[in-house]
Amino acid sequence: MSLDDTIQIANTLIHDIEASSEAPSFQLPPGASLRGVLVIDTDQRIISTDANLSKILGVDLENILGLDHGQVVKDHLKHRFKDTDAYESSCNWLKDHPEEVLDDALEVSGPENRVVHRYSAPLYNADRNCIGRVEIYSDITRRRELEAAVSQAYKELREAQEQLVQSEKLRAIGEIASGVAHDFNNTLGIILGNIQLLLRVQKDDFARAKLEAAEKAALDAAETVRRIREFTKTTLQEPKSALDLACVASEVVEMMKPTWENTSHARGYSIEVNVETDHAPAMANAPEIREVLTNVLLNAVQSMPDGGSINVRTGCSDDFSWVRVADTGVGMSDDVCSRIFDPFFTTKGVEGTGLGMSVAYGIIKRHGGKIAVDSELGNGSIVTIYLPKADGLELADTPEPVREQESDLRAKILVVDDEEMFADVLVEMLSECGHAVCVARSGPEALEQFREDQFDLVFTDLGMPEMSGWQVAREIKGIQPETPVVLLTGWGTVLDENELEGSVVDMVLSKPVRLEDLSSVVSEALGRIAER
Ligand SMILES: Nc1ncnc2c1ncn2[C@@H]1O[C@H](COP(=O)(O)OP(=O)(O)O)[C@@H](O)[C@H]1O
Ligand SMILES: [Mg+2]
Repeated sequence: MSLDDTIQIANTLIHDIEASSEAPSFQLPPGASLRGVLVIDTDQRIISTDANLSKILGVDLENILGLDHGQVVKDHLKHRFKDTDAYESSCNWLKDHPEEVLDDALEVSGPENRVVHRYSAPLYNADRNCIGRVEIYSDITRRRELEAAVSQAYKELREAQEQLVQSEKLRAIGEIASGVAHDFNNTLGIILGNIQLLLRVQKDDFARAKLEAAEKAALDAAETVRRIREFTKTTLQEPKSALDLACVASEVVEMMKPTWENTSHARGYSIEVNVETDHAPAMANAPEIREVLTNVLLNAVQSMPDGGSINVRTGCSDDFSWVRVADTGVGMSDDVCSRIFDPFFTTKGVEGTGLGMSVAYGIIKRHGGKIAVDSELGNGSIVTIYLPKADGLELADTPEPVREQESDLRAKILVVDDEEMFADVLVEMLSECGHAVCVARSGPEALEQFREDQFDLVFTDLGMPEMSGWQVAREIKGIQPETPVVLLTGWGTVLDENELEGSVVDMVLSKPVRLEDLSSVVSEALGRIAER
């Protein structure tokens, strides 16, 4: 067979391949912009090539016809590829295995990041004798770029889907939890009120100790319920102001120092905490961010039963300010990591509530921020909290906590609650503070009493069958606009923003109510009248 015949066959083959979109053993890579051909005979001589090959490989191959393929590889071709040795040895392998097909992608050396696809196959004559080899080189750089873009888009889609599933799952759990929380708050209000009333009169040490233990348990339960509520809140009611995460982080670390110092000293290991802060101005509600950081730091401490170190850093990027807590603790498996924000998910048995991270998630989400958790089993964890950046704003001072005020004002108060036991305990608590109290079991009954008598203050439950607390408040204000109305709710502080806006109520108090809170609310309400 003449050389011309061989080239003819090669060209036909190439033509067939290009013409057919369904070539059985070879398809031209989609997105391939240029194809160059090289034909070699059984003596390893180059018998055909084309100008495209020179373009694709960026070398001058004009005068290589008739030359030994191995030599051309050495002199001209191999240096064009990043992995020169691999290219050369694959060419040698093809020389020793003339009937093999090779289909591979090769990275071109140099800064252009190009990728070239090589298809190498034996050529046969009509008698099925191998007469040489054809190699087709295609530039698939563009295809690679498209593939990378597709896989990036797919990854983003998957992340978005995971987030959606996560927030839907949390929303469903949140709804169930909030119903439970409401009932619990009422019940806890009754328990706590009665305990606190008993504590006021009980002198016996043993009985007092028992009552105090019960009071603490009720307060702990109230705290758990509050945290559930915290998690289920969807909108931010508390004011946001510009604050520096650097200051908040330092404050929280300072405040929590005793936590790790006590436990670590007691158990004979040490926990080292390093704080490196850069200015990180964020729009946020300071007490809520403190709560988030406390939860995250507590987890870090608890993840290091034999001691270790915690790094707290703050900083900011274009849109976000962030605070990062990295620990050298036990880390998390992927499974634990994927459930970290689920309410009540804990790996700490009875020691854990499983609410720390879900509360943190709820708070940060309401702030329009996000929490990222990066962890590996045995290799510590990094929790990063991102918050919307506050730009060009003066940082507000952290507000001073409001001091409780004791008052010796005596008032006449109307309590409106359909929950008999709760109303009774509230009446007793208010009486205990020295006030004269009347009770109404429903809205209409309250209005009747209010029209007939003079009251300095009204406490009304929010959810009542005939008339809601809002309606009661509106009616009261209609009759006597100066009378302060305090709304009591089992829903924590979660109230409809629209209703709160331009609200008819003067204060909102969430159940369960502590005696101290009750007395300071009364003082404040009466103080407001005095100011008028
Ligand atoms: N820094 C951390 N290192 C290791 N595990 C952690 C860390 N933070 C959270 N976790 C895991 O996430 C779970 C849920 O945390 P959290 O919601 O705070 O509840 P709790 O601390 O009460 O268990 C923990 O039980 C623990 O398994
Ligand atoms: Mg925790």
